[in-house]
Amino acid sequence: MRFDNRVAIVTGAGRGIGFGIAERFLEAGASVAAVDVQAGRIQDAAEQLGSKGPSLAIAADVSVEEQVEAAVEETVKRFGRLDVLVNNAGIEVLGSASEISVEGWDRQLDVNLRGAFLCSKYAVEKMRGRGGAIVNIASVHAFASYPGVVAYDASKAGMLGMTRAMALDHAKDAIRVNAICPGYIDTPMLDAWLKTMPDPHEAMRGILKCHPLGRIGTPRDIAEAVLFLASEAASFITGATLVVDGGMTIQGH
Ligand SMILES: NC(=O)c1ccc[n+]([C@@H]2O[C@H](COP(=O)([O-])OP(=O)(O)OC[C@H]3O[C@@H](n4cnc5c(N)ncnc54)[C@H](O)[C@@H]3O)[C@@H](O)[C@H]2O)c1
Repeated sequence: MRFDNRVAIVTGAGRGIGFGIAERFLEAGASVAAVDVQAGRIQDAAEQLGSKGPSLAIAADVSVEEQVEAAVEETVKRFGRLDVLVNNAGIEVLGSASEISVEGWDRQLDVNLRGAFLCSKYAVEKMRGRGGAIVNIASVHAFASYPGVVAYDASKAGMLGMTRAMALDHAKDAIRVNAICPGYIDTPMLDAWLKTMPDPHEAMRGILKCHPLGRIGTPRDIAEAVLFLASEAASFITGATLVVDGGMTIQGH
């Protein structure tokens, strides 16, 4: 899976899964625009990524249209083309429908769903003619729910619908659109969620037990799946959802 002379945008690349995806694309020969809303974080990340290959740090909020448009333009200006978009930037706002604030709901949908839509909208314009690949990082929460994450689950289920719709609309442009549903992955987002549990160590033991493969995932596990879906090896795959969860969601109870 080589990506020499190819250009990828990875959102939420300042840490966690996004950083792992950006790093893996660079190792495979791509040039990478690493986007994150946290300016300091993306600068630090870019310094580490810089040793792996041509990378560009862009501070942008994926939920703000002008910033997304500018990020896509800057990428094409620097690298000359755009082949891959990975919609990875995401947040998790906790709460049931009665607990979550309306502002919390809106922010959740703005970042996870509107952000992926905006990035895709501007990326598609640059991919038309030559073709390209979009990979959306959804979650097992798109189809298997847990207490107290109503807005997050809605955003991730929405991502799968958007993946199928965009795959259909842009097949004629040779743009493939697919989604990945990770299980629990070892990142700062997971750490933040564990800290909300009454006993984080007990919660971690519970999480480990629900993965038949006996471990939680790593950003690298997700990055490998992303590279596959973005590569020529997946040239007949579009509108698909790839579950990467160590077997978590195949269990009967
Ligand atoms: N960690 C898990 O267990 C897990 C499981 C399933 C799906 N996911 C999904 O994977 C993606 C990455 O998760 P992670 O665990 O690496 O999270 P993380 O919180 O560790 O990293 C997310 C990055 O996205 C950035 N970001 C947040 N809002 C943004 C915005 N508006 N614009 C641009 N960047 C923004 C953050 O600054 C951060 O650097 C998310 O979409 C998440 O929902 C994570």
